[in-house]
Amino acid sequence: MRELDLTRLPRHIAIIMDGNGRWADKHGLTRAEGHEAGAKSVRASIEACRELQGVEVLSLYAFSTENWRRSEAEVSALFGLLSKYIHLELENIHKEGIRVRIMGRREGLSERVLSDLEYSETRTRDNRQMTLNVAINYGGRAEIADAARRLAREAAAGALRAEDVDEEAFARRLYVPELPDVDLLIRTSGEMRLSNFMLWQVSYAEIVTLGVLWPDFRKRHLHEAIERYQKRQRRFGGR
Ligand code: FPP
Repeated sequence: MRELDLTRLPRHIAIIMDGNGRWADKHGLTRAEGHEAGAKSVRASIEACRELQGVEVLSLYAFSTENWRRSEAEVSALFGLLSKYIHLELENIHKEGIRVRIMGRREGLSERVLSDLEYSETRTRDNRQMTLNVAINYGGRAEIADAARRLAREAAAGALRAEDVDEEAFARRLYVPELPDVDLLIRTSGEMRLSNFMLWQVSYAEIVTLGVLWPDFRKRHLHEAIERYQKRQRRFGGR
């Protein structure tokens, strides 16, 4: 393993898994096959985090609210893959003591997908070794708007005073309120965009972009990103 300082691991790592389509093009395969290959990297990233014993949360951007604009075939391949992944991997994830959380809007998802997602969360609910937070039908602005709507409803019902709306109260209305802030945000395939991912939670995150296309992502890439993170000095707005 590289020279990682195991006493200074990021508590929360979030990954924008990018480059499945380009990887497929490069190998003369379909986009669906690119995503399928990307699922192997999902396994590698979970194992790598779990092994480090100190990373508390791994968040993965699996399907954004903008991804509905892709072809019907690709959307259905992505959801098919998600269900397949849950059926194949959930027991392993459970045995590893990993708790699964799903972050995103439930509206718009099929009954079948919803029941798979709910099963993943209830099956692993008591696990405490690590949290795997999967963003599905997720948009950062939608999450913020949804939290604002909840606050407004509570205020209108007389359950909350406007003076009590502060950052903490707001954070408690996010999709997965117990998540700590993101420490390290990784994006693969060399792009530098946030793409509407966890806008509230990444306020002070260190961003590391890697050239590797997501289907080629392996443990060593996660270690490289953590090493780069550990070389940075985090100041949180201070000096
Ligand atoms: C981005 O590549 C990737 C996605 C939109 C989907 C990520 C999904 C997976 C890796 C599938 C499995 C996920 C789980 C959690 C089991 P892209 O298609 O935007 O690539 P491109 O920019 O090269 O076209």
